[in-house]
Parts: sequence; structure tokens; C-alpha cells
Amino acid sequence: AAEALDLGDHTDHMAKEIEEQPAVVAEILDRIAGRAVDGSMWAGLGLAPFERVAVAACGTSLNAGQVIATALRGLGGVPTDTVVASEADQAVLTPGTLVVAISQSGETADVLRALDRFADRHQVLALTNNLHSSLARRADAVLDCHAGPEIGVAATKTFTAQVVVGVSAMISALVASGRIDRSRALALVGDMQRLPGLLAGAAEASADRIPLLVSSVRDASGFLFLGRGAGLPFAAEGALKLKELSYRWAEAYPAGELKHGPLALVTDGTPVVVVENGEHKIQANVAEVRARGGFVITIGGVGADVPALGRDAGRLLSRRTAVTDQGMSTWGPLESVVPLQMLARELALQLGCDVDKPRNLAKSVTVE
Ligand code: F6R
Repeated sequence: AAEALDLGDHTDHMAKEIEEQPAVVAEILDRIAGRAVDGSMWAGLGLAPFERVAVAACGTSLNAGQVIATALRGLGGVPTDTVVASEADQAVLTPGTLVVAISQSGETADVLRALDRFADRHQVLALTNNLHSSLARRADAVLDCHAGPEIGVAATKTFTAQVVVGVSAMISALVASGRIDRSRALALVGDMQRLPGLLAGAAEASADRIPLLVSSVRDASGFLFLGRGAGLPFAAEGALKLKELSYRWAEAYPAGELKHGPLALVTDGTPVVVVENGEHKIQANVAEVRARGGFVITIGGVGADVPALGRDAGRLLSRRTAVTDQGMSTWGPLESVVPLQMLARELALQLGCDVDKPRNLAKSVTVE
């Protein structure tokens, strides 16, 4: 714990925790990659087979849950719902549904209330960064996120850890149930081994350009974040981070929804952050934004070169995302979260906000 509080060369915990992500992921993969491939990670949890999955969580953990859900649907064809934990009363789960409850703190009241509703009739798998938490105690099985202590109120490395541990566990479950074979699991986990390098590369590609980019959008009152498919939860996470740290309005939309309403918000200079993940249709949506004078900030870009930073195009990251034999990785462009976190942090700093302790927020939300 003393080590976690030591900022080293960093000015704030958020910067330190963003930077730790490649190492956190490398350590997680060291611990679990082999057990994901042969199904033993799942077998070790002692849970019964499932027909469907419902992920229940809040905030950033819910965004991580969306990534895990996208992977489960894409890899195994498993019907998977995501439940906003505070709205769990509205959810109807069929028998054979595994509930995956995700909470960094393991003490989020909304998540614990959701268990009150589900735990009698459904198996609950907890994914948490605190093995001594109420959630860990109440679940049928627990997965440790292995993120290490996170001090910044805004979740960063716990998001990345949740995605990597959660997707690995689901790959293991798919192998154990025969939905995918070992060679496919081996290819997927092999792809995950590239993540530490991709995360570090994303940080490196973004470090110089973000301060300049932010100075061009600092006075904007609101931001739009767009994504499609597997990119969408990352757009949601980017918008959440930006609003909680900089106190600017930020909303995420599936890019295709733009023309059904939000496009009315775009005028000259409106910042629109686009998470690319190889979905070619998004280009048409971006063209609509540009035609209205929107200031497009692109995160990602498959195989693209980095153009000079212009008035209209800040391409923050030009790495190719992990590619499998099935095309783009089913868990989406995880490395895009790094520039999104850096963007939110830099805007907050330029606006004079405290990035480790945003106003009105707490690290652990123990009220409903
Ligand atoms: C955002 C953030 C919150 C939490 C949410 C759930 O940066 O930190 O949205 O993600 O309050 O917290 P946990 O994961 O502890 O259940």
C-alpha cells in the first residue's frame, strides 16, 4: 500500500495508474494465459455450465462489462445482456443465466442490491479488485482483477484489468464448454499477448500530441464520442472519463445514431472523438461531422499513417489493433482506452481540475 501511495516521478496518481497499464496486463497474462487456453481457469471456479450471461455493474465497470459481453457474443455466440446495476429490478433473467458482477471496489451498493435480486436463483461470478470485499464474500466464485491498488478516483488500470481478466475467463469457459476449441483459444490468448505492447505504443503515440490537441478544444462546452460495434464501450468510457474529470458535458453514441438526433449538436468547432476499430461505415458518419464543421479527434485508425496535426484532424493513435484469423479482435480496440484516459486527464489539468479527486465523486460508492 505504501508503494501505491508513492507517486515516484508522476505528478498525480492518475498519470501513474495510466502508465502502469501495460505492466498490469503483462502480469495478468503471466498468471492466467495458460489456464485460459486449456479451460482450467474456468474449471477452477467450480461453477456449473451456463446458457446465457448477464453482466451487472456501474460506471466504468459497466463499460468493461460491455467489452466482455461483446467478446462473449462474438466468440461463443452466447446470449449476453448487460444490466445497469441500479436498474436490476427491471431485468428478467432466464434459468441457466450466469450473473457476472463487476466492481473494482466490491462495495458498490447498487451492485450488492442487484445481487439481492439475482443471487437466490442464479450463480454469481464476481470480478473485483478487492478479494476481501462484500461482493467477493457474497459471490459463488471470485476472479481477482490483479490491478493493484488504484488511488485515483477515476478508474483507469482497473478497467483494463477487468477486461483482460474477464475476457480470459470467458475464453476459458468457452473452451471448457466445447463452444470453441483449444487452437482457437490459443490464437486468441496469443493475440492478447500483444496487448502490453499495444497499450504502451498507444501511450507513446499520444503523449506529445494530446496537450496541443486539448489546447484547441479547451473552450468547448461539450464533446461527442462515437464508436461502432466493439468500439462503442470504449467511446462510452472516454466520455465518462472526460465528464468526471473535466466537468464538461460528454456523451457517447453509436456512430450510426448521430443522424437520428445528436448531429444537431454539431456546429463549427464541436469536438467529436471517434474511436475507430476498422468499421468502415464510421467514415460516412465522420464525414457528416466534418461537413458541419466539427473538430474530429480520431483514436485509432487501422494501419493509418499519422497525419500532421491540423485544425480538423488529431489522429492520436495509428497502431493496428489486434487482428485474429476472424478479423478484428472481438474484445475491441483495448489500447484506445489509453489516449482516451490521457485526453480526459489533460483537459482536466488545462482547466485547473484535480484529476485524482474529482468533485462530488468517491472511490467507493456505498449508497444507492
Ligand atoms: C469512473 C468510476 C466510476 C466507477 C463506479 C463503479 O471512473 O470510477 O464510474 O466505475 O462507481 O465502481 P466499482 O467498480 O467500484 O463498482
